[in-house]
Amino acid sequence: MTGPTAPAAPPAAPAGDVAARATAGFRQRYGAEPAGRWAAPGRVNLIGEHTDYNDGFVLPFALPMRTVVAAAPRDEPRWTVWSELDDEPVEFGPAEADEPGRVPGWAAYVAGVVWALRAAGQPVPGARLAVASDVPVGSGLSSSAAIESAVLAALVDLGDLDLPAERWPRLAQRAENGYVGAPTGIMDQSAVIRGRAGHALFLDCRTEQVDQIPFDLDAAGLAVLVVDSRAPHRHADGEYASRRRSCEEAARILGVPALRDIDPAGLDAALAKLPDDETRRRVRHVVTEDQRVLDTVALLRANRVREIGPLLTASHASMRDDFEITVPEIDTAVEAALAAGAHGARMTGGGFGGCVLALVDASAADAVAAAVTAAYAERGFAAPATRTVRPAGGASRLA
Ligand code: GLA
Repeated sequence: MTGPTAPAAPPAAPAGDVAARATAGFRQRYGAEPAGRWAAPGRVNLIGEHTDYNDGFVLPFALPMRTVVAAAPRDEPRWTVWSELDDEPVEFGPAEADEPGRVPGWAAYVAGVVWALRAAGQPVPGARLAVASDVPVGSGLSSSAAIESAVLAALVDLGDLDLPAERWPRLAQRAENGYVGAPTGIMDQSAVIRGRAGHALFLDCRTEQVDQIPFDLDAAGLAVLVVDSRAPHRHADGEYASRRRSCEEAARILGVPALRDIDPAGLDAALAKLPDDETRRRVRHVVTEDQRVLDTVALLRANRVREIGPLLTASHASMRDDFEITVPEIDTAVEAALAAGAHGARMTGGGFGGCVLALVDASAADAVAAAVTAAYAERGFAAPATRTVRPAGGASRLA
């Protein structure tokens, strides 16, 4: 029996699909109906890694897994957020929202969006929010961009803010850079907000020009297999920031605004001006990776989908040998997938863990997944999670 002074047990987390869980969580926590529900997906990056903050090119696509925010406005400028990750809701007001870092943990992504909107002079409405998600956290599939973007979509609608969707990626990125403190580029938020079903998003990170590239896997008899390496993220934040610093320093030495401005034809001459081998390898990765994105886009436009495989694999080798951001679990997954017949395979995302994607014949997806799982068992690694994915749509309000 529970004594009279014992705290009430939190209600069991709602079950059901992700939208139903967000709605049920809202009702449970706030005893009211939400005014609406907004969803934003996770993403994988087909190719173009660590090129976004070098003003270069990326080719991500949005995933079917989504984060859903059920929300309703309130009269005062305060924000209460419940997430199924946590029993207790987090509440904050303008003072906490206006001071980056004051709201810690997962709720920082929500406070960061409020902060970025307020800093942009937008009259952000107070709100109650409930968050549910199918995007795995810490797997490099951009669960952070998904929550930022779903919250942003909710607040823009609830407040009827004058903010066209083209501006959302920069704002969501600002939340992550300026409030959460992660110096990431514009790729994740762009994919999550601007992704389109059946397409990969070709993004020029300097101009933010977007081109939707048809990526119809079914028509080509292909599948993208995503392997969550389950490798613990070792020093990922510090290593990411140090890669970014090296690139910016190299651009400064080379006298260009960003590494995107190094023409591949002039790469050797540029490398010769750099002071050490490590910096040379970092620059070589970025410059060759930009070119691989352009080559991949050209092949997809020509409907030669299968032929992008070697570019994916070359991207992986470059991340492993030149940018040095892979780990043994990731390399094992790539090697096992290729040995089992994948057309190409590479790590996707920031590195030091996270996911590998492999382009496979649809009929071979299960066999490739099984081969990767067997290779993990042989090496004594924790079993990976595998799934096939198709490009899905970006952030939206749900009916
Ligand atoms: C993370 C960052 C992105 C990008 C990738 C690497 O996902 O959030 O901005 O830099 O790493 O391509």
